[in-house]
Amino acid sequence: MTTLVYPGTFDPITLGHTNLIERVAGIFDQVVIAIAASERKQPLFNLDERLTLARDALAHLPNVRATGFRGLLVDIARQEGANFILRGVRNSTDFEYELPLAQMNGNLAPGIDTLFLTPPPHLTCVSSSLIREIASMGGDVVPYVPENVATALAGKFPRP
Ligand code: COA
Repeated sequence: MTTLVYPGTFDPITLGHTNLIERVAGIFDQVVIAIAASERKQPLFNLDERLTLARDALAHLPNVRATGFRGLLVDIARQEGANFILRGVRNSTDFEYELPLAQMNGNLAPGIDTLFLTPPPHLTCVSSSLIREIASMGGDVVPYVPENVATALAGKFPRP
């Protein structure tokens, strides 16, 4: 059984994330979306909201589930029996940031390999913080997020 954990803050989940998840769901037996509480990032959506948004957006993928976590990524990965960790890499800046994390996670948990996937070019510019900013100012985020996320963002930033 191959299990991959895809960690992140997912505040909120975007089509950049779901693109990667749909692709790995076709490769691995089980995919676990591990949503970090990330209190230090002061998320717009609380952990329960982010879990609900991810679960609803991924309901069409039977071998994908979402769980929340606090603490070390390698601990949740081990707890889930994961063989792999997935991280998305959009550009060289992401890669510079991700490389030491992947190496350190490999030191902490030998046997759990980090894989990198790139989103398609039209989604490379997407980040959760840009989505939050655009939504807060009344811009259109529909091309970049699942439908339920667009609705939730509209609820957070109601227009007069
Ligand atoms: N599509 C769209 N956006 C993407 C993306 C993709 N494919 N891949 C990354 N991003 C964006 C995210 O939206 C996010 O955007 P934002 O910062 O503008 O909101 C940004 O890239 C990176 O955020 P995220 O993926 O949530 O990662 P993170 O930097 O918040 O890290 C953890 C989250 C959980 C992986 C990391 O903090 C962690 O491992 N924590 C546990 C503690 C631990 O184990 N520490 C030791 C590590 S060695």
